[in-house]
Amino acid sequence: MAVLFVLGLCALVAVAAAGNLYQDFDVTWGDGRAKILNNGQLLTLSLDKTSGSGFQSKNEYLFGKIDMQIKLVPGNSAGTVTAYYLSSQGPTHDEIDFEFLGNLSGDPYTLHTNVFTQGKGNREMQFKLWFDPTEDFHTYSILWNPRHVIFMVDGTPIRDFKNLESRGIAFPKNQPMRIYSSLWNADDWATRGGLVKTDWSKAPFVASYRNFNADACVRGSSKCGGSTKSGWWNQELDLSSQGRMRWVQKNYMIYNYCNDAKRFPQGLPPECAIA
Ligand SMILES: *[C@@H]1O[C@H](CO)[C@@H](O)[C@H](O)[C@H]1NC(C)=O
Repeated sequence: MAVLFVLGLCALVAVAAAGNLYQDFDVTWGDGRAKILNNGQLLTLSLDKTSGSGFQSKNEYLFGKIDMQIKLVPGNSAGTVTAYYLSSQGPTHDEIDFEFLGNLSGDPYTLHTNVFTQGKGNREMQFKLWFDPTEDFHTYSILWNPRHVIFMVDGTPIRDFKNLESRGIAFPKNQPMRIYSSLWNADDWATRGGLVKTDWSKAPFVASYRNFNADACVRGSSKCGGSTKSGWWNQELDLSSQGRMRWVQKNYMIYNYCNDAKRFPQGLPPECAIA
């Protein structure tokens, strides 16, 4: 009996620590197509011919390790885009993007990433995934500290945008960002450059979110004073993580702006030269 009681208590604490999507997010558009369910443990976005939908975080963050589990639109998702990103406001905004471009059943999603600093992006890197992202939830993380922006999938780093301010390249470090996500129709460009159109007979399209965790500095809160900053503040990729990232980039990267000389006739962006 005593053991059962203790186990029960642990379960409660774990759920509380996992947070509640009602507390962390506001549904911002979609006229009822975005829903928070199961007492705040699940969020779903949906898209039909009339509209997509979206949500945003209540908090703004300035550095942190931010995890979200996402299960993407299954089946024929061609033409749909699920965007999940951090962004500040204004013309010189910073932004850290994950975008999932849907595909025909059985064809792989494209995971598109980008980093904007001071309003300037053009730093796309695209990947295929080593699993079917529609079959189950997978964890997509952004580790953002003063020296790195690291994109991770199930804990495996896929991209490391380094702070190269000493070389004159802007780094996101003083504009707090909110988390945004939306599911929308982009069949004018998303799948094979717009060749494959959304099949509306398969609507509504649904993407699901759960287990959000932000170990982060929250604007307007004393959380994240020096002593409470945990491991992520100083984290960078150790040798084995660098090896895993190289494995992903070698086997799953399908586009890297740094390899696209044709696109930059004036020369590749300066960070490309600094390996
Ligand atoms: C969809 O699948 C095709 C065929 O494998 C592939 O060429 C394409 O890059 C995939 N992704 C998108 C977003 O079109």
